[in-house]
Amino acid sequence: MLQKANPKNDDIQVYIKDKLYPRHQAKISVFDSTVQGGDAVWEGLRVYPEGIVCLDKHLTRLHESAKTLAFTDIPTKLQIKKAIKKTLDANGMNDNIHIRLTLSRGEKITSGMDPRLNQSGSCLIVLAEWKPLVYDNASGITVLSTSQRRNAPQFLDSKIHHNNLLNNIIAKIQANVAGKDAGLMLDDRGFVAELNGSNIFMVKQGKVFTPFAHACLPGITRNTVMEICQAHDIPLVEADLSLSEFINAEGVFATGTMGELTPIVEIDGREISRESDLMHHVLKLFKNNIRGFCEPLV
Ligand SMILES: Cc1ncc(COP(=O)(O)O)c(C=O)c1O
Repeated sequence: MLQKANPKNDDIQVYIKDKLYPRHQAKISVFDSTVQGGDAVWEGLRVYPEGIVCLDKHLTRLHESAKTLAFTDIPTKLQIKKAIKKTLDANGMNDNIHIRLTLSRGEKITSGMDPRLNQSGSCLIVLAEWKPLVYDNASGITVLSTSQRRNAPQFLDSKIHHNNLLNNIIAKIQANVAGKDAGLMLDDRGFVAELNGSNIFMVKQGKVFTPFAHACLPGITRNTVMEICQAHDIPLVEADLSLSEFINAEGVFATGTMGELTPIVEIDGREISRESDLMHHVLKLFKNNIRGFCEPLV
Protein backbone atom coordinates (compact mmCIF):
# COMPACT_ATOMS: atom_id res chain seq x y z
CA MET A 1 0.00 0.00 0.00
CA LEU A 2 1.46 3.28 -1.09
CA GLN A 3 0.81 6.22 1.20
CA LYS A 4 -0.58 9.37 -0.42
CA ALA A 5 0.35 13.00 0.28
CA ASN A 6 -2.13 14.51 2.71
CA PRO A 7 -2.90 18.20 1.92
CA LYS A 8 -3.35 18.74 5.68
CA ASN A 9 0.43 18.34 5.94
CA ASP A 10 1.19 21.11 3.42
CA ASP A 11 1.65 23.81 6.02
CA ILE A 12 2.91 21.93 9.06
CA GLN A 13 5.62 23.31 11.35
CA VAL A 14 8.69 21.14 11.86
CA TYR A 15 11.04 21.38 14.84
CA ILE A 16 14.77 21.34 13.98
CA LYS A 17 17.47 21.66 16.66
CA ASP A 18 15.81 24.45 18.67
CA LYS A 19 13.21 26.11 16.45
CA LEU A 20 10.06 25.51 14.44
CA TYR A 21 10.11 26.04 10.67
CA PRO A 22 7.28 25.90 8.11
CA ARG A 23 7.49 22.65 6.14
CA HIS A 24 9.01 24.19 3.02
CA GLN A 25 11.78 25.89 5.02
CA ALA A 26 12.43 22.87 7.25
CA LYS A 27 15.87 21.82 5.98
CA ILE A 28 19.08 20.41 7.36
CA SER A 29 22.61 21.11 6.18
CA VAL A 30 24.38 19.03 3.53
CA PHE A 31 27.02 18.62 6.25
CA ASP A 32 24.52 16.95 8.58
CA SER A 33 25.41 13.40 9.58
CA THR A 34 22.06 12.06 8.41
CA VAL A 35 22.92 13.15 4.85
CA GLN A 36 26.54 12.04 5.10
CA GLY A 37 26.07 8.51 6.40
CA GLY A 38 22.60 7.86 7.74
CA ASP A 39 24.32 8.61 11.04
CA ALA A 40 21.22 9.31 13.11
CA VAL A 41 18.74 7.46 15.31
CA TRP A 42 14.97 7.70 15.22
CA GLU A 43 11.60 6.74 16.63
CA GLY A 44 8.11 6.63 15.17
CA LEU A 45 5.47 7.82 17.65
CA ARG A 46 1.68 7.72 17.51
CA VAL A 47 -0.43 10.44 19.09
CA TYR A 48 -3.92 9.94 20.52
CA PRO A 49 -5.90 12.56 22.47
CA GLU A 50 -4.84 10.67 25.62
CA GLY A 51 -1.14 11.16 24.82
CA ILE A 52 1.68 9.38 22.99
CA VAL A 53 1.71 5.60 22.93
CA CYS A 54 4.50 4.18 25.16
CA LEU A 55 6.36 7.49 25.03
CA ASP A 56 8.88 6.68 27.74
CA LYS A 57 9.85 3.37 26.09
CA HIS A 58 10.39 5.16 22.77
CA LEU A 59 12.58 7.81 24.42
CA THR A 60 14.56 5.11 26.23
CA ARG A 61 15.18 3.29 22.94
CA LEU A 62 16.24 6.57 21.30
CA HIS A 63 18.68 7.21 24.16
CA GLU A 64 20.04 3.66 24.05
CA SER A 65 20.53 3.78 20.27
CA ALA A 66 22.34 7.14 20.56
CA LYS A 67 24.55 5.89 23.41
CA THR A 68 25.50 2.75 21.46
CA LEU A 69 26.55 4.98 18.57
CA ALA A 70 28.56 7.18 20.98
CA PHE A 71 26.54 10.34 20.34
CA THR A 72 27.46 13.24 22.57
CA ASP A 73 25.12 15.99 23.64
CA ILE A 74 22.04 13.75 23.78
CA PRO A 75 18.94 15.77 24.78
CA THR A 76 17.21 14.65 27.96
CA LYS A 77 13.79 13.05 27.90
CA LEU A 78 12.34 16.29 29.29
CA GLN A 79 13.97 18.36 26.54
CA ILE A 80 12.62 15.99 23.89
CA LYS A 81 9.13 16.05 25.41
CA LYS A 82 9.17 19.86 25.39
CA ALA A 83 10.18 19.88 21.70
CA ILE A 84 7.38 17.43 20.87
CA LYS A 85 4.82 19.46 22.81
CA LYS A 86 5.90 22.67 21.12
CA THR A 87 5.51 21.00 17.71
CA LEU A 88 2.11 19.46 18.42
CA ASP A 89 0.79 22.71 19.92
CA ALA A 90 2.05 24.78 16.97
CA ASN A 91 0.23 22.45 14.58
CA GLY A 92 -2.95 22.03 16.67
CA MET A 93 -2.45 18.26 16.59
CA ASN A 94 -3.73 15.69 19.08
CA ASP A 95 -5.12 12.70 17.18
CA ASN A 96 -4.35 10.65 14.05
CA ILE A 97 -0.79 11.94 14.20
CA HIS A 98 2.46 10.12 13.51
CA ILE A 99 5.72 11.69 14.63
CA ARG A 100 9.04 10.90 13.04
CA LEU A 101 11.48 11.81 15.82
CA THR A 102 15.09 11.90 14.61
CA LEU A 103 18.29 12.60 16.49
CA SER A 104 21.20 13.23 14.14
CA ARG A 105 24.84 13.30 15.23
CA GLY A 106 24.64 16.84 13.86
CA GLU A 107 26.68 18.93 11.47
CA LYS A 108 30.25 18.09 10.42
CA ILE A 109 33.01 20.63 9.89
CA THR A 110 33.85 18.87 6.62
CA SER A 111 32.52 15.75 4.92
CA GLY A 112 33.79 12.44 6.28
CA MET A 113 32.81 9.51 8.48
CA ASP A 114 34.76 10.43 11.60
CA PRO A 115 32.41 11.47 14.45
CA ARG A 116 35.17 13.81 15.68
CA LEU A 117 34.24 16.02 12.72
CA ASN A 118 30.89 16.64 14.46
CA GLN A 119 31.55 19.70 16.55
CA SER A 120 28.14 21.41 16.78
CA GLY A 121 26.26 18.93 18.92
CA SER A 122 23.43 16.63 17.99
CA CYS A 123 20.33 17.79 16.12
CA LEU A 124 16.78 16.84 17.14
CA ILE A 125 14.06 16.81 14.48
CA VAL A 126 10.36 16.50 15.35
CA LEU A 127 8.33 15.86 12.21
CA ALA A 128 4.67 15.48 13.16
CA GLU A 129 2.23 14.67 10.37
CA TRP A 130 -1.47 13.98 10.06
CA LYS A 131 -1.25 10.25 9.34
CA PRO A 132 -3.87 7.68 10.30
CA LEU A 133 -2.79 4.02 10.49
CA VAL A 134 -0.98 3.26 7.25
CA TYR A 135 -2.51 -0.16 6.49
CA ASP A 136 -6.06 -1.28 6.03
CA ASN A 137 -6.17 -3.53 9.07
CA ALA A 138 -9.50 -5.00 8.01
CA SER A 139 -8.26 -6.38 4.67
CA GLY A 140 -4.66 -7.09 5.76
CA ILE A 141 -1.43 -7.15 3.75
CA THR A 142 0.45 -9.47 1.43
CA VAL A 143 4.16 -10.14 1.93
CA LEU A 144 7.07 -11.64 0.02
CA SER A 145 10.07 -13.30 1.61
CA THR A 146 13.13 -11.46 0.31
CA SER A 147 16.69 -12.50 -0.44
CA GLN A 148 17.90 -9.56 1.66
CA ARG A 149 18.70 -10.80 5.18
CA ARG A 150 17.94 -8.73 8.30
CA ASN A 151 21.05 -7.75 10.22
CA ALA A 152 22.16 -10.05 13.02
CA PRO A 153 24.38 -8.51 15.73
CA GLN A 154 27.63 -9.54 14.04
CA PHE A 155 26.81 -7.22 11.13
CA LEU A 156 24.95 -4.23 12.56
CA ASP A 157 22.91 -4.80 15.69
CA SER A 158 19.21 -4.49 14.85
CA LYS A 159 18.61 -3.27 18.39
CA ILE A 160 20.02 0.09 17.28
CA HIS A 161 17.18 2.04 15.70
CA HIS A 162 19.37 3.93 13.24
CA ASN A 163 18.73 5.76 9.99
CA ASN A 164 20.87 3.49 7.88
CA LEU A 165 17.80 1.71 6.55
CA LEU A 166 19.14 0.36 3.24
CA ASN A 167 18.97 -3.21 4.49
CA ASN A 168 15.20 -2.85 4.90
CA ILE A 169 14.73 -0.61 1.87
CA ILE A 170 16.22 -3.30 -0.42
CA ALA A 171 13.74 -5.80 1.04
CA LYS A 172 10.89 -3.33 0.42
CA ILE A 173 12.03 -2.86 -3.21
CA GLN A 174 11.93 -6.62 -3.72
CA ALA A 175 8.36 -6.69 -2.36
CA ASN A 176 7.38 -3.74 -4.57
CA VAL A 177 8.73 -5.46 -7.69
CA ALA A 178 6.57 -8.48 -6.87
CA GLY A 179 3.52 -6.29 -6.21
CA LYS A 180 3.34 -7.19 -2.50
CA ASP A 181 2.83 -4.85 0.45
CA ALA A 182 5.93 -5.64 2.51
CA GLY A 183 9.17 -7.60 2.46
CA LEU A 184 9.53 -10.47 4.91
CA MET A 185 13.14 -10.69 6.05
CA LEU A 186 14.93 -13.80 7.32
CA ASP A 187 17.94 -13.73 9.62
CA ASP A 188 21.41 -14.96 8.68
CA ARG A 189 20.38 -18.54 9.64
CA GLY A 190 17.21 -18.54 7.55
CA PHE A 191 14.72 -18.09 10.40
CA VAL A 192 12.05 -15.39 10.06
CA ALA A 193 13.23 -12.08 11.53
CA GLU A 194 10.58 -9.44 10.75
CA LEU A 195 9.02 -7.43 7.93
CA ASN A 196 10.98 -4.54 6.43
CA GLY A 197 9.21 -2.06 8.73
CA SER A 198 7.32 -4.04 11.34
CA ASN A 199 7.55 -7.10 13.57
CA ILE A 200 5.74 -10.36 12.94
CA PHE A 201 3.64 -12.76 15.03
CA MET A 202 1.85 -16.05 14.31
CA VAL A 203 -0.86 -17.97 16.12
CA LYS A 204 -1.10 -21.75 16.29
CA GLN A 205 -2.77 -24.28 18.60
CA GLY A 206 -3.73 -21.81 21.28
CA LYS A 207 -0.39 -20.01 21.42
CA VAL A 208 1.00 -16.74 20.06
CA PHE A 209 4.54 -16.92 18.67
CA THR A 210 7.08 -14.31 17.63
CA PRO A 211 10.74 -14.56 16.60
CA PHE A 212 13.41 -13.89 19.20
CA ALA A 213 14.60 -10.27 18.97
CA HIS A 214 18.02 -11.41 17.71
CA ALA A 215 17.79 -9.99 14.21
CA CYS A 216 14.84 -7.66 14.37
CA LEU A 217 14.04 -4.37 15.99
CA PRO A 218 12.65 -5.14 19.46
CA GLY A 219 9.53 -3.23 18.53
CA ILE A 220 7.56 -1.36 21.14
CA THR A 221 4.27 -2.52 19.64
CA ARG A 222 5.70 -6.06 19.73
CA ASN A 223 6.38 -5.52 23.42
CA THR A 224 2.85 -4.18 24.00
CA VAL A 225 1.35 -7.29 22.35
CA MET A 226 3.52 -9.46 24.62
CA GLU A 227 2.36 -7.52 27.69
CA ILE A 228 -1.29 -7.80 26.63
CA CYS A 229 -0.90 -11.57 26.14
CA GLN A 230 0.68 -11.89 29.57
CA ALA A 231 -2.06 -9.82 31.23
CA HIS A 232 -4.77 -11.99 29.65
CA ASP A 233 -3.16 -15.40 30.25
CA ILE A 234 -2.52 -15.98 26.55
CA PRO A 235 0.53 -18.21 26.06
CA LEU A 236 3.25 -16.23 24.26
CA VAL A 237 6.39 -17.93 22.96
CA GLU A 238 9.54 -16.33 21.51
CA ALA A 239 11.22 -18.86 19.23
CA ASP A 240 13.25 -19.53 16.11
CA LEU A 241 10.47 -19.84 13.53
CA SER A 242 10.79 -20.88 9.90
CA LEU A 243 8.92 -19.63 6.88
CA SER A 244 7.05 -22.93 6.69
CA GLU A 245 5.75 -22.44 10.24
CA PHE A 246 4.41 -19.00 9.32
CA ILE A 247 2.85 -20.25 6.07
CA ASN A 248 1.00 -22.99 7.98
CA ALA A 249 -0.03 -20.89 10.98
CA GLU A 250 -3.68 -20.33 11.90
CA GLY A 251 -3.13 -16.57 11.75
CA VAL A 252 -0.22 -14.18 11.13
CA PHE A 253 -0.01 -10.47 11.88
CA ALA A 254 2.44 -7.58 11.73
CA THR A 255 3.01 -5.05 14.53
CA GLY A 256 4.35 -1.51 14.43
CA THR A 257 3.56 2.07 15.44
CA MET A 258 2.75 3.10 11.84
CA GLY A 259 0.07 0.46 11.29
CA GLU A 260 -0.50 -1.06 14.77
CA LEU A 261 -1.74 -4.67 14.26
CA THR A 262 -2.23 -5.81 10.68
CA PRO A 263 -3.25 -9.31 9.55
CA ILE A 264 -0.95 -10.88 6.96
CA VAL A 265 -3.16 -12.62 4.41
CA GLU A 266 -0.55 -13.96 1.99
CA ILE A 267 3.09 -15.08 2.22
CA ASP A 268 4.91 -15.90 -1.04
CA GLY A 269 1.63 -16.49 -2.87
CA ARG A 270 0.25 -18.85 -0.21
CA GLU A 271 -2.99 -17.72 1.39
CA ILE A 272 -2.68 -17.44 5.15
CA SER A 273 -5.53 -18.62 7.32
CA ARG A 274 -7.55 -15.89 9.06
CA GLU A 275 -9.75 -18.31 10.96
CA SER A 276 -7.97 -18.09 14.30
CA ASP A 277 -10.31 -16.84 17.04
CA LEU A 278 -7.23 -16.29 19.20
CA MET A 279 -5.70 -13.94 16.65
CA HIS A 280 -8.91 -11.90 16.48
CA HIS A 281 -9.02 -11.86 20.28
CA VAL A 282 -5.46 -10.45 20.42
CA LEU A 283 -6.21 -7.85 17.70
CA LYS A 284 -9.32 -6.77 19.61
CA LEU A 285 -7.54 -6.63 22.96
CA PHE A 286 -4.89 -4.40 21.41
CA LYS A 287 -7.47 -2.07 19.85
CA ASN A 288 -9.45 -1.84 23.08
CA ASN A 289 -6.42 -1.25 25.29
CA ILE A 290 -4.00 0.86 23.24
CA ARG A 291 -5.18 4.20 24.62
CA GLY A 292 -4.31 2.91 28.09
CA PHE A 293 -0.66 2.84 26.95
CA CYS A 294 -0.73 6.57 26.07
CA GLU A 295 1.38 8.96 28.13
CA PRO A 296 0.57 12.68 28.26
CA LEU A 297 3.44 15.08 27.52
CA VAL A 298 3.01 17.14 30.70
C1 LIG B 1 12.48 -2.54 11.03
C2 LIG B 1 11.38 -2.23 11.97
N1 LIG B 1 10.79 -3.24 12.61
C3 LIG B 1 9.77 -3.03 13.47
C4 LIG B 1 9.29 -1.76 13.71
C5 LIG B 1 8.15 -1.55 14.66
O1 LIG B 1 8.61 -0.98 15.84
P1 LIG B 1 7.64 -0.20 16.82
O2 LIG B 1 6.60 -1.17 17.25
O3 LIG B 1 8.52 0.22 17.94
O4 LIG B 1 7.06 0.93 16.05
C6 LIG B 1 9.90 -0.67 13.07
C7 LIG B 1 9.46 0.70 13.36
O5 LIG B 1 10.17 1.65 13.25
C8 LIG B 1 10.97 -0.91 12.18
O6 LIG B 1 11.58 0.11 11.55
